[in-house]
Amino acid sequence: MKIGIDKVGFFAPHLYLDMTELAEAREVDPGKFTIGIGQEKMAVAPLTQDPVTMAANAAWEIVDDVDRDAIDFVIFATESGIDHSKSAAIYVHQLLGLKPGARCIEVKQACYGATAAIQMAKGHVALHPDRKVLVLGSDIARYGLNTGGEVTQGAGAVALLIGQDPKIMALEDDSVYLTDDIMDFWRPVYSEMAFVDGKFSNEQYLSFFSRVWEQYKVQNNLTLKDFAAICFHLPYTKMGLKALRTVLEEGDEVVQERLQANFQKGQIYNRNVGNIYTGSLYLSVLSLLEQQDDLSAGDRIGLFSYGSGAVGEFFSGILQPGYKTHLHVSAHDALFAARQALTVAEYEEIFQSGLPTDGSAMELNIDLDPAPIVLAGVEDHMRKYVNKASEGM
Ligand code: CAA
Repeated sequence: MKIGIDKVGFFAPHLYLDMTELAEAREVDPGKFTIGIGQEKMAVAPLTQDPVTMAANAAWEIVDDVDRDAIDFVIFATESGIDHSKSAAIYVHQLLGLKPGARCIEVKQACYGATAAIQMAKGHVALHPDRKVLVLGSDIARYGLNTGGEVTQGAGAVALLIGQDPKIMALEDDSVYLTDDIMDFWRPVYSEMAFVDGKFSNEQYLSFFSRVWEQYKVQNNLTLKDFAAICFHLPYTKMGLKALRTVLEEGDEVVQERLQANFQKGQIYNRNVGNIYTGSLYLSVLSLLEQQDDLSAGDRIGLFSYGSGAVGEFFSGILQPGYKTHLHVSAHDALFAARQALTVAEYEEIFQSGLPTDGSAMELNIDLDPAPIVLAGVEDHMRKYVNKASEGM
């Protein structure tokens, strides 16, 4: 039985900061951010968007009534969740109008969470082939103003519908995965900001990639030439490029050119959104599929997932006939085109704003946010979400 990605939805908030402006404000050569790090724009979440609303907006794009009937499992992967107890998946379940007969849970292992969710979803569909699983990867990446990681922040979500006979990509049963207890990036429960050992995290990312890739080739009897493209978790686009470069020499000139060209297509969305942690690898897959016209059904796409702390996994998917007709290219073009630029001062003000933590009420102006699903306010420590589309506003 083929199991894999049946639909993909994506959402980023309508505000962004240009990395050249950030570089100038931080008195850094803009080339460091745009070439050395490889980021152009960073999506910035206003208070009306949080990981729940971003995931719900990404899913709202793809879930129809047939899916509502089939989805009986929602797995929300995040490392910037809003509650230590209640799963973010339950809010999304309600906002999308999914049927009560469903399981809703949240999973966590840094940026690897959505990959864990997908593998769990595959198991569920294998046992119940008529059912579908909604996998959500949604995060706001925060390192802090004036920090080394600031240029690698971002915000956004990817929603993946996992089912039998998928329309977009069948996921192979070829995973190689690895866990090692390291402190390269982490966020203690009392901190709004991530802690990171930047250089060490880069080294570990490359080390994990090398270890799973070497084992993957042996275990599956495949080599670099068997891949049309390899997509990477992209904390910033240069990181994936560095990883790709470590293996390029295993292929001839044709293979090298193909993988480099497809890497370029697969980093376009990430370059303009920033790090979205759990969703980053799948945003890169979406960017590749939507921006590259040279791919064909049957092509094998490699996927490298990395979540600090750390877990790494390499696996692959096979593109399905007609996959392109099931993507939402024009909607995503429109999403990027409609975004509004922030000044550095406006970005800093949003970054430093927050919801009350003492139980007092705050009402937010949801008319300023064009997204269908928004956070309207907070009261008695409870967030109030609104789906404008479903309420006919
Ligand atoms: N023009 C072009 N390039 C320039 C330049 C210029 N004017 N000035 C500098 N550069 C280049 C540097 O040569 C360097 O290139 P290489 O990496 O190819 O050598 C690059 O710009 C970056 O320069 P630095 O190494 O000096 O950058 P930095 O020390 O300020 O920080 C960082 C970089 C460590 C990635 C930091 O942004 C950071 O800590 N980010 C968060 C952590 C992270 O993303 N880690 C990735 C792996 S962990 C992971 O994947 C999980 C996750 O999502 C967090």
